[in-house]
Amino acid sequence: MSVVAPGTDTDSDTENETRDWATDFDHTDPAYAAAAPEIWADLRQRCPVAHTEEFGGAWLPTRHADVSAIAHDTEHFSSRSIIVSPFRPDASAPIGYAPPITSDPPFHEIARRLLLPAFSPKAVAVLAEPTRVFCRELLDAIDTRHAAGEPIDAAIDYAQHIPVRVIAHLLGVPQEDGDRFRTFIHRIMERPGQFSNLDPEETMWFYLFQVVEERRRERRDDLISFLLDAEIDSVPLGSDHVIGTLALLLIAGIDTTWSAIGASLFHLASHPEDRRRLVAEPELIPTAIEEFLRAYAPVTMARIVAKDVEIGDVTMTEGDWVLLPFPAANLDPDAFEDADRVLIDRTKNRHAAFGLGIHRCLGSNLARLELTIAVQEWLARFGEFELADPAAVRWSTGQVRGPRELPVVIGAGR
Ligand code: HEM
Repeated sequence: MSVVAPGTDTDSDTENETRDWATDFDHTDPAYAAAAPEIWADLRQRCPVAHTEEFGGAWLPTRHADVSAIAHDTEHFSSRSIIVSPFRPDASAPIGYAPPITSDPPFHEIARRLLLPAFSPKAVAVLAEPTRVFCRELLDAIDTRHAAGEPIDAAIDYAQHIPVRVIAHLLGVPQEDGDRFRTFIHRIMERPGQFSNLDPEETMWFYLFQVVEERRRERRDDLISFLLDAEIDSVPLGSDHVIGTLALLLIAGIDTTWSAIGASLFHLASHPEDRRRLVAEPELIPTAIEEFLRAYAPVTMARIVAKDVEIGDVTMTEGDWVLLPFPAANLDPDAFEDADRVLIDRTKNRHAAFGLGIHRCLGSNLARLELTIAVQEWLARFGEFELADPAAVRWSTGQVRGPRELPVVIGAGR
């Protein structure tokens, strides 16, 4: 199937030769990351809800209907924590550590509503120009390196920088802080729970605390000042709320979009006919982006079972983790015609890449803007490119899936 990293050898790991993903899945295993669509297709046939004893017990539904039912059921499933780790979050914290994504009703709606104006289509449209400028700067640097005969990596040299720069711009913090953002996110998303011994001053929380204190002394026209001036029932937001929401925007806004841009370029590098069509018909790019979001959806979220409940033919018990693989839902043949084919002119496409239910992505306008501009600018500069080595493409592990290494040859594939 075309949505799998080609050439990845999942049989080389002895542990995986014996692993049954139905009873012992591990979404942090590189073999899972490399072949996830095939694993979901298999599980959908024979489970369809997989289980693991790891992480203290976790479930993995694979059908669109089950993922949707769980995402819409806030009575039995809590968002207190949305990243599976060996540790359970503190159930007594009412807002969660990163509102609104970790908040349950009724507080969720309050926390979400106050952020909406910052991510409306109008508010996001002003970011188009700086995003285009960032993309062109990155492409200029790639052009120079290409001319010097250096290898080019579309994920490392391009995709990973775009959302970091946009978020830094949005928060009003220096562009140079971008590399630190990626380190923070890597620790949280790809190595959850493994950095508990870190010096507190090296953590994301300390970094955010410092920038918030700076902004308390002097407001600017940025999102941190917007949050510091926001109120709930005429009371300013507590520091926990402001810092938690900023943490969420870093976590939710960076590697998600980086993955989606990388996956779009992965597809175009490996499908010359689609690439040539988009170069000839750039007006099709927004439709193609929706299809890339469906076929290569990067985000799997999690819930904690709040009350025992039956899903399919399994009983989930209070305290269990449940992964919500929106990417698996998007590839379910019961939900989409030709689900395993990437059709860049697909018009009926109510995909779940941005989630389902009350937590549906608040940054989707911004994500679409970044993706569209990133692909437009890349194709305008490099209409011809292909994978340098399909086996060298490396996909991230954990709950956000996208190419982290994507070596390409520019000017090839004519
Ligand atoms: C292609 C890029 C992106 C994808 C695929 C994506 C996907 C998602 C998904 C699946 C959810 C639902 C979470 C859940 O059900 O627990 C979500 C929520 C959220 N996303 Fe995104 N996201 C992207 C980009 C962004 C960006 C750029 C931002 C903002 C800077 C953002 C901000 C948020 C926020 C604030 C929420 C929480 C909404 C709530 O709890 O009510 N996302 N996103």
